[in-house]
Amino acid sequence: MPNKKQTLGEFIIENQSSFKYTSGELSRLINSIRLAAKVVNHEVNKAGLVDIIGAAGDTNIQGEDQQKLDVYANDKFIQTMTKRNIVCGIASEEEDDFITINSQDENHQNKYVVLIDPLDGSSNIDVNVSVGTIFSIYRRVTPVGTPVTMEDFLQKGNQQVAAGYVVYGTSTMLVYTTGDGVNGFTLNPAIGSFYLSHPNMQFPEDGTIYSVNEGNYVHFPLGIKKYIKYCQEEKDNRPYTSRYIGSLVSDFHRNMIKGGIYMYPKSYKAPNGKLRLLYECNPMAFLAEQANGKASDGYTRIMDIKPTELHQRVPFICGSKNMVEKAEEFMRDNVE
Ligand code: AHG
Ligand code: MN
Ligand code: MN
Repeated sequence: MPNKKQTLGEFIIENQSSFKYTSGELSRLINSIRLAAKVVNHEVNKAGLVDIIGAAGDTNIQGEDQQKLDVYANDKFIQTMTKRNIVCGIASEEEDDFITINSQDENHQNKYVVLIDPLDGSSNIDVNVSVGTIFSIYRRVTPVGTPVTMEDFLQKGNQQVAAGYVVYGTSTMLVYTTGDGVNGFTLNPAIGSFYLSHPNMQFPEDGTIYSVNEGNYVHFPLGIKKYIKYCQEEKDNRPYTSRYIGSLVSDFHRNMIKGGIYMYPKSYKAPNGKLRLLYECNPMAFLAEQANGKASDGYTRIMDIKPTELHQRVPFICGSKNMVEKAEEFMRDNVE
């Protein structure tokens, strides 16, 4: 019986020794993400007060410029990780290039790089719908003590040492993996601590929810069109339920708990889909696999794709194992 009162801080310390590279550096890194998440959560919660405190681009009552929340979240995560001096490099969806951290220690002793989507689902902020943060952590491949290079960031997803997300929802949760299952922690806002609320999260092998922006239907590949028709067919336990929030983090979170599939296929408008391999797909794929789910671009395991550029996009199909395999079957059988 898991101890429901365990805090994220306690959990990190307790599990540090079971992690194969146990220097404490990764624990400190996850701790700093936890801290930045609380700060961003506070700001996200105020988004509805926009008429009172001013919209992005306005100047607030203290004479400070109001920032867009995605810029704010980007700054907070980067500042926290930079100040605490625990990574050697950061790449963010909001930055054109990766950031090299000049460690205060002699010769950049830090081993980890972080890739981050600071605010996912940003189009949902103005309408009080859940948004998130996604992060992905790798060990650098270039020697410790030298500045990071592109090679440190363009690693396959199967090299991730940790990944996770924060969902700023009806409750704020931090969900992460270090390669030993997926655990979810809920923020108690009165106390400011995350508590282990969802130990060992697992996708049900089968599900009844499909999540896709069906407005793009006419532009989808034939395999996806036919899979959507399959989801809607009246047979066995179908038709499935359609649920699409438009925040990957929230759609993924619901599907992991209830069983479902999320798809952002390629379309004629977006030949590689929309989602970014390094900031969105790889971390979600790592979480999915650690939770007994699956993630694919329709043909290939997401985490086996060799990235060629930082902001690369890929088609993304992710969720309950049997559902993803069914969608892949439709892709294979309907070559255009
Ligand atoms: P971001 O806000 O980081 O740019 O990501 C938005 C992504 C993802 O969260 C969501 O599922 C998808 O874009 C929604 O796109 P559509 O509006 O095209 O459906
Ligand atoms: Mn995103
Ligand atoms: Mn984003």
